[in-house]
Amino acid sequence: MIKPHGSDKLNPPYPMDAAVRARLAEEAKRLPAIVISSAAAANAVMMGSGYFNPLTGFMGKRDALAVSEGMRTAGGLFWPVPILNVVADATPIKGQRRIALKDPNVDGNPVIAIQDVEAIEEFSADEMKLMTQKIFRTEDPKHPGVAAFNSVGRFVISGPIQVLNFSYFDKEFPETFRTAWQIRDEMTKLGWNKVVAFQTRNPMHRAHEELCRMAKDAVNADGILIHMLLGKLKAGDIPADVRDASIRKMVELYFPKNTVLITGYGFDMLYAGPREAVLHAVFRQNAGCSHLIVGRDHAGVGSYYGPFDAQTIFHAEVPKGALEIQIFEADHTAWSKKLNKVVMMRDAPDHKPEDYVMLSGTKVREMLGKGEALPVEFARPEVARILSAYYQAEDAKGK
Ligand code: ADX
Repeated sequence: MIKPHGSDKLNPPYPMDAAVRARLAEEAKRLPAIVISSAAAANAVMMGSGYFNPLTGFMGKRDALAVSEGMRTAGGLFWPVPILNVVADATPIKGQRRIALKDPNVDGNPVIAIQDVEAIEEFSADEMKLMTQKIFRTEDPKHPGVAAFNSVGRFVISGPIQVLNFSYFDKEFPETFRTAWQIRDEMTKLGWNKVVAFQTRNPMHRAHEELCRMAKDAVNADGILIHMLLGKLKAGDIPADVRDASIRKMVELYFPKNTVLITGYGFDMLYAGPREAVLHAVFRQNAGCSHLIVGRDHAGVGSYYGPFDAQTIFHAEVPKGALEIQIFEADHTAWSKKLNKVVMMRDAPDHKPEDYVMLSGTKVREMLGKGEALPVEFARPEVARILSAYYQAEDAKGK
């Protein structure tokens, strides 16, 4: 199986021994504590799960700026976006060496991790602007990722962490949330070596489904890892539990047994397009996948990115050898009226624009929002039923 990023073995900052975690939780009760941002809590979950290997702590200013600028830490590690614990007010922990980080996303704000504080620094307004521009390629406050990144404050607390739990993710999604090492273990059990990962934040419509099939066949993979985001999304995106149910139904009915693993990870969507695609590649490598599918407008939002910018970055900006995982670059996938099936447009050179029904998650959400039934070109009927039921329930709540 492919090696993790940056080390031979995963080395997550999550004590595997429950007794050690319990001891740390006891210690945390006596430590000065601070409630962290949702983004920082998600970063802790990702480090604790092994997905952010070899990182074992939050970056400081120097690393954050170097990573934003050139996708490398000051020490030279290839890394696409800063991994930060930023707060608006650091006075409660001023001068402290060891602190408890409290989870903003769970009732009562339990401690999610302990951090050894290396430094507390402040980003200037110019530094925030520079990082925003480099990570998101825009400073538009209407961009949901830009808004989130700039809403948490400017004081950055750096230093190693010990993660005590996986926030709400393993409790709310027991069947789906998996750590990187759990995925590696499952793949080993299944005898998989070559594995195609599929990133998603949407219920899988027909284009998604066929994309997975095409990629698996093209690289002759042993299996497909459907790996969905379980954290925070922008308003209007379909919540993780509904998406999870619809994906499970689709796999159960339309994929051969033991060819797909349905899993998820605990992270908030950045909507950072190209840079997020590179982060996606890093953590799928950590989960043992040999390939990642990157299609049209991967991790994008609105029209901030060109449809294939998230593929271009791997050629233009990711140095050769920086990552071992390979990218399966998918072309626009659409329903062919001529062939009566989903095709990748580059595979149908004789087609004219009017020969296609264009498929997209946005369009599916729009139709469902208007109470329209999804045609078979868009979604499997069993999947469409789950999504319609969700939208009808939402509609009823709103009335
Ligand atoms: S994402 O924000 O998680 O990337 P989404 O769940 O919509 O959004 O997409 C999952 C993956 O499918 C991404 O790699 C995306 O580029 C790809 N994708 C979605 N729809 C299409 C399509 N019609 N054609 C090609 N690729 C697509």
